[in-house]
Amino acid sequence: MLDGGNASSSCIVLDSVKKAYGNTPALDGLSIDIPQGEKFALIGPNGAGKSTTLKLLVGLLRPDSGTVSIMGYNPTSIQAKKLIGYLPEDASPYATLSVRENLEYIGALRGVDDAGERIDLLLGELSLSEYERSKVGKLSRGNRQKLAVALALIHRPKVILLDEPLNYLDIPTQERVVSMLEQLNATVLVSTHIMSIAERLTDGAIVISRGRKVWSGSMKELQAQARGTESIESVVVRLMTGAE
Ligand SMILES: Nc1ncnc2c1ncn2[C@@H]1O[C@H](COP(=O)(O)OP(=O)(O)OP(=O)(O)O)[C@@H](O)[C@H]1O
Ligand SMILES: [Mg+2]
Repeated sequence: MLDGGNASSSCIVLDSVKKAYGNTPALDGLSIDIPQGEKFALIGPNGAGKSTTLKLLVGLLRPDSGTVSIMGYNPTSIQAKKLIGYLPEDASPYATLSVRENLEYIGALRGVDDAGERIDLLLGELSLSEYERSKVGKLSRGNRQKLAVALALIHRPKVILLDEPLNYLDIPTQERVVSMLEQLNATVLVSTHIMSIAERLTDGAIVISRGRKVWSGSMKELQAQARGTESIESVVVRLMTGAE
């Protein structure tokens, strides 16, 4: 692994990573390598290891073996933490603070200089302005998810790791979040079950099943695997199950 610097264009890297929870294997020798500036989708069935992969990349978990790095840095390092914006799958902003207070607090921790303007912009883009004084504990699940997206992006991160960002969002909000993410100048890995989002948002896809990579390549290559009028969803199912 590179140590403390970015000698190549690799940005989000797992190399032969194994990770188990007690006796439950989650990742079984997974390798991924996402170049700087590219956007990739992480696709796989429930329990495939998507959230585990993202937690390893943000340093919340350590691999049992193999290596994990972000722009050459160990994910637990200060350098990596400054680069990363992370949306966890069960994001829970502070329930007793208001929407704006949550953003102000994380903005301050992240050292955002123009936090006020940045917060106004994000609230507007996500249609959250009318809730800015509402306590998070009283928000609907979808509005809480919008806030979680804003919290992940407030410091203009260069490496963005999103675990099912569109969960709980209505269709118009999904559209808005996708166009926000499309415009970001960052390296992105997003786990999603929604193939239309993966197709629109990402350059490439990594398909995993039972903690192993079963396919990776460009979105175009994935689309080219479709037989006749086969949907992209059924291509992915075929890849995941190993069906011919
Ligand atoms: N905290 C935990 N303790 C024990 N086992 C866990 C834990 N977290 C995940 N696992 C197991 O690890 C495997 C991978 O789980 P993971 O959450 O990474 O999958 P996922 O692809 O994110 O699934 P989903 O689509 O349901 O979110 C599963 O077998 C799961 O049961
Ligand atoms: Mg998950």
